[in-house]
Amino acid sequence: MRVDVVTIFPEYVEAPARVSLLGKAREQGLVELAVRDLRAHATDKHRTVDDEPFGGGPGMVMKPEPWFAAVEAIEGWERARRILLTPAGRRFDQRLAEELSGEAHLVLMCGRYEGIDERVATLATDEVSIGDFVLAGGEAAALVVIEAVTRLLAGVVGEPGSVEQESFTTGMLDYPHYTRPAEFRGMAVPQVLLSGNHAEVERWRREEAMRRTRDRRPDLVEPGEPGV
Ligand code: 6GU
Repeated sequence: MRVDVVTIFPEYVEAPARVSLLGKAREQGLVELAVRDLRAHATDKHRTVDDEPFGGGPGMVMKPEPWFAAVEAIEGWERARRILLTPAGRRFDQRLAEELSGEAHLVLMCGRYEGIDERVATLATDEVSIGDFVLAGGEAAALVVIEAVTRLLAGVVGEPGSVEQESFTTGMLDYPHYTRPAEFRGMAVPQVLLSGNHAEVERWRREEAMRRTRDRRPDLVEPGEPGV
């Protein structure tokens, strides 16, 4: 999968993209990530990318010209899924992550919270938010999208079963996990996990996952009830 990120803070995106699962996926050639500096497409000597809002008011607004130049400079941009990260977008979730993992090419456009000229939205195929809170810019959101999407690509996560079994794919929260020691500071690992009875272990995990989901995320059990 090709991923291009357009941002005024390239280092913000580059540093985390070098480590962990994503760093490894890039080394293995499973993900080809390019971070592009929006300012490289400004036309004045101060490399200006924002201006005062028409109609007045506080804050600055990102200008359209550098955005159009930056996106149109990306090879194959017309065929890419082009996602503008904005708190006004559609809420990102595992279903959208799965959908995006089927794309050959993503272009992630990091807006600033203060604002981006509305005409830039016409460059995007999607507008996406990662939740009901405010970030200073779309960079952290772009990293969230990249991590959620690229870990679904074949070969990125070691054991395929670990992706299929997990929360939000199954529609339930994960069951509790334990490793050695069997007792730690007076806290014992549930006996059933030490029993060697595979069927009993499976049943316990299913029940614990259901209990947790009911207690912590009733909205996942009864869509449209409490929570959401
Ligand atoms: Cl995508 N951008 C900003 N600035 N804030 C957000 C967000 C995105 N998603 C949630 N909050």
